[in-house]
Amino acid sequence: MSEPVSALVPLPPRRRIAVLISGRGSNLEALVEAMAAERWDARIVAVIANRPDAAGLAWAAARGLPTAGLDHRAFAEREAFDAALAQAIDASGAELVVLAGFMRILSDGFVRRYEGRLVNIHPSLLPAFAGLHTHRRALEAGCAFAGATVHLVTPTLDHGPIIAQAVVPVRPDDTEAGLSARVLAAEHRLYPMALRWLIEGRLALDAQGRVRPLDGQPQGLFFES
Ligand code: GAR
Repeated sequence: MSEPVSALVPLPPRRRIAVLISGRGSNLEALVEAMAAERWDARIVAVIANRPDAAGLAWAAARGLPTAGLDHRAFAEREAFDAALAQAIDASGAELVVLAGFMRILSDGFVRRYEGRLVNIHPSLLPAFAGLHTHRRALEAGCAFAGATVHLVTPTLDHGPIIAQAVVPVRPDDTEAGLSARVLAAEHRLYPMALRWLIEGRLALDAQGRVRPLDGQPQGLFFES
């Protein structure tokens, strides 16, 4: 049965985006390319990396995006790093905070500050395989399907309301490298799709705190191979 409309609490549009990365930044690239190709009414106001040598940071700077390197090793405490991070995000005027391969655990205070506007992509079908080495663990478990999940971030690592998932079949002869490359290609389709919904205010939370698209879009992408 579909939810009565009154039970849904819409998530407001958020058009100014900060993207947090730690490395390669291929999801950032996919986002920037989708925004340009589809002429989104939205803007990336900051790309911030916790590793100043992150390849994605150089890519973003070369594209003329505002970038900042904030080396977490310069901070003795996680909370101090998170406070500096929040300061950089807020100074940019960002409304939506997008984690795109950001490999730092964020403190509860940081997560609460951006509640409902902090989003992550994780390379597994959550709630299976939170944490690291997701593809290796999916292969070891004999999973027939792997994939990726876009979700709102809550203080529990790799949990939080699911916005969308991509399902990728595991091949009988799969390797960790092969599976992870195919899931990454799926991520590059999934994350821009889900972010566009968020940016344009096309999502809501239901009475159980689950994310529901207001226009009834399917929340899954299926890949054949
Ligand atoms: C992506 O596969 C992303 O899902 C994963 O890191 C990779 C970043 O790639 N994120 C996590 O594991 C977060 N728990 P990218 O830098 O090329 O976008």
